[in-house]
Amino acid sequence: MRLARTLSSVLRRTMSTLPTTQRALQISEHGGPEVLQFNEVGVPQPSAGKIIVKVDWAGVNYIDNYQRSGLYPNKAGWPLTLGQEAAGTIVALPPSSPDDAAYKERDFQVGQNVAVYSAGAYTEYFSAPWQRVFPLPTGVDTKTAAAFTLQGLTVTSQIHESYEVKKGDTVLVHAAAGGLGLIYCQLLSTRGVRVIGTTSTKEKAALAKSLGAAEVLLYAGPEKEDIEARVLELTNGEGVHAVFDGVGKDTWELDFKVIRRLGTIVFVGNASGPVPPFPVLRLSEKNVKICRPTLVNSVADPVAAKRYADSLWSSITSGALKAKIHEEYPFSAEGLRKAHEDIAGRGTTGKLILKVA
Ligand SMILES: NC(=O)c1ccc[n+]([C@@H]2O[C@H](COP(=O)([O-])OP(=O)(O)OC[C@H]3O[C@@H](n4cnc5c(N)ncnc54)[C@H](OP(=O)(O)O)[C@@H]3O)[C@@H](O)[C@H]2O)c1
Repeated sequence: MRLARTLSSVLRRTMSTLPTTQRALQISEHGGPEVLQFNEVGVPQPSAGKIIVKVDWAGVNYIDNYQRSGLYPNKAGWPLTLGQEAAGTIVALPPSSPDDAAYKERDFQVGQNVAVYSAGAYTEYFSAPWQRVFPLPTGVDTKTAAAFTLQGLTVTSQIHESYEVKKGDTVLVHAAAGGLGLIYCQLLSTRGVRVIGTTSTKEKAALAKSLGAAEVLLYAGPEKEDIEARVLELTNGEGVHAVFDGVGKDTWELDFKVIRRLGTIVFVGNASGPVPPFPVLRLSEKNVKICRPTLVNSVADPVAAKRYADSLWSSITSGALKAKIHEEYPFSAEGLRKAHEDIAGRGTTGKLILKVA
């Protein structure tokens, strides 16, 4: 009798009742937005090292397009559940606590609000390795967390790992009004970095300026500027200390022209297509460094990952980082199709999120 009571109390602490089926946004082949499907799938069961989260909100990221189209080929098997980040409530913990100080430090509890950065997020019940689950502090709700986790961890880690920004630096940020771009504008300007942004429209430029960019130049559209000349003019002919480039193919050659001697080009993404191969000797023109980081590697160490998450949450709770949500989309194939078309169609600013519950 006492054993039964103890078991039931452990179960209450480690999981709440789970349904047997749920819905997930998946693809069974690479292709355009039409390949997105809304399928009924099983609900994950508690397993070693994994935490199950009932999802409130999921974030849409440009990487979804690469995974759907096949630019990043699927190596995990079909069907593939898309989505890289979500936020919601813990409904089940691993059956036995991992013997790891970093696990204990996160102090996971059933019922706690958390953010998750892990593959396969577009589900109602998301099972993720505990290392990728981050408890939310008071002042960060699940909607805000879904708007910031992946992009915020990327910026927070890259302004430290790829190029350690310093007060007084001048940095160029491409697509400055996008999801990643607005986070760069805010986090860099609060660190005393002068941000020169690029974008495609005057409206986007005004938004990036309102969130911290000192100058925003138009690299596309009818009022397109000569970016090389303008950046050199704004930096007394020296160029910028670093470039954070998520556009790729279309801005790649420009980056070499506007980077200063000993500067760092941080190539973070391929919104306009992947960059071509290049001769390494080219770096010697100005002794330039080039990084091609991906968040997976920056958060591979759970201690570093928590440090980045804590820094992100404190930027939000201090008011240094404000969410700019472009649109909330419904959790359906039509909802995600529209989100994918919108983000690839270049008409969005800030973050796109899916309302899951
Ligand atoms: N390495 C990592 O770990 C990591 C993590 C997060 C994101 N990323 C990358 O960072 C980039 C930004 O991601 P995000 O999710 O924040 O997207 P986003 O910036 O909100 O959207 C992409 C933006 O890229 C610009 N763009 C320029 N040329 C384009 C083209 N030919 N087609 C479409 N867009 C074009 C557009 O802004 P304008 O209209 O202003 O040009 C567009 O709004 C993406 O390349 C993404 O893959 C990388």
